Amino acid sequence: MIVTTKKLFELAYGKYAIGAYNINNLEQCMGLFRGNIESQAPFIIQISKGARSYTHKAMLEAMIRTADEIFPEAIFAVHLDHGDEKTCMDCIESGFYSSVMIDASHEPYEKNIEITRRVVEAAHARGIVVEAELGQLGGVEEHVSVAEADAKLTDPDQAKDFVARTGCDSLACAIGTSHGAYKFTGGQGVRFDVLAEIQKRLPGFPLVMHGSSSVPQEEVERINAAGGRIKGAKGVDENQFKRAAELGVTKVNIDTDGRLVWTRVHREFFRDNPEKFDLRDPGKIFMAEYAKFIAHKNEKLGSAGQLPAVRAALTK
Ligand code: G3H
Ligand code: 13P
Ligand code: ZN
Repeated sequence: MIVTTKKLFELAYGKYAIGAYNINNLEQCMGLFRGNIESQAPFIIQISKGARSYTHKAMLEAMIRTADEIFPEAIFAVHLDHGDEKTCMDCIESGFYSSVMIDASHEPYEKNIEITRRVVEAAHARGIVVEAELGQLGGVEEHVSVAEADAKLTDPDQAKDFVARTGCDSLACAIGTSHGAYKFTGGQGVRFDVLAEIQKRLPGFPLVMHGSSSVPQEEVERINAAGGRIKGAKGVDENQFKRAAELGVTKVNIDTDGRLVWTRVHREFFRDNPEKFDLRDPGKIFMAEYAKFIAHKNEKLGSAGQLPAVRAALTK
């Protein structure tokens, strides 16, 4: 059952966070649904602009619709990840997405508000909800001064003004994380101090944490032992997800960790089976490993086991 992120956030707020997982292909789609059903969790499927053009946007939609039929128990939102205005409008008009993200965070503040407002108006007219972004996500190098690093983080006072003026339904905040496998070069981590200040200004308002992959060191070591060359990768401590949830984070975005699972499975498979060439052999292993990975993340997010309560609340 496809629902809006807003509905899921109302039920989760302050208690747990919902995993938002990017998918690009069939194997990820199957593993994602299996993992969420196995762990009895509501979830968010994220589709990036790159994912929409990897095969064809209609291919992804068809896969998700079919997965919805194969797994009638599943409760999830379909969300555009990091959309520009044009892609947001396309997704809103398609009638398939229940939620879109407009990412105009690179624009000057007033322009970000202007663009976000236009998307919110179009989306709300169709019953679709909007995530917007304020602040700049980025890796924090050790040589960067505290003042320089802080300047890129979401300003809590500005966050309050931004939400009031755009009417967005949730806010992606820059709180020290970044996309990809190389988030921290030293002892940095999630800026819970900044998050707490944002929550104080926006009590009860759903916040989103991007760049939340944990880049498990064991996974990186296995990839490198099987011929990979991923050096110095570091991510977010997944044991901190629940603390973030208590501070208003209702959506945690995870993509890189899933790519690492894919890379580990395929590298190890072809290293150990150099004579094989049937793509379904590693594909089956990947789907099972991806499902296990999703279930594990949901445990850390606190969304595991919430599906019956979410169904009861949504169908009453
Ligand atoms: O935030 C970006 C997501 O990880 C999606 O990545 O644009 O390469 O699909 P992508
Ligand atoms: P990661 O690169 O940490 O997985 O972040 C994904 C993300 O934020 C997608 O929007
Ligand atoms: Zn992101």
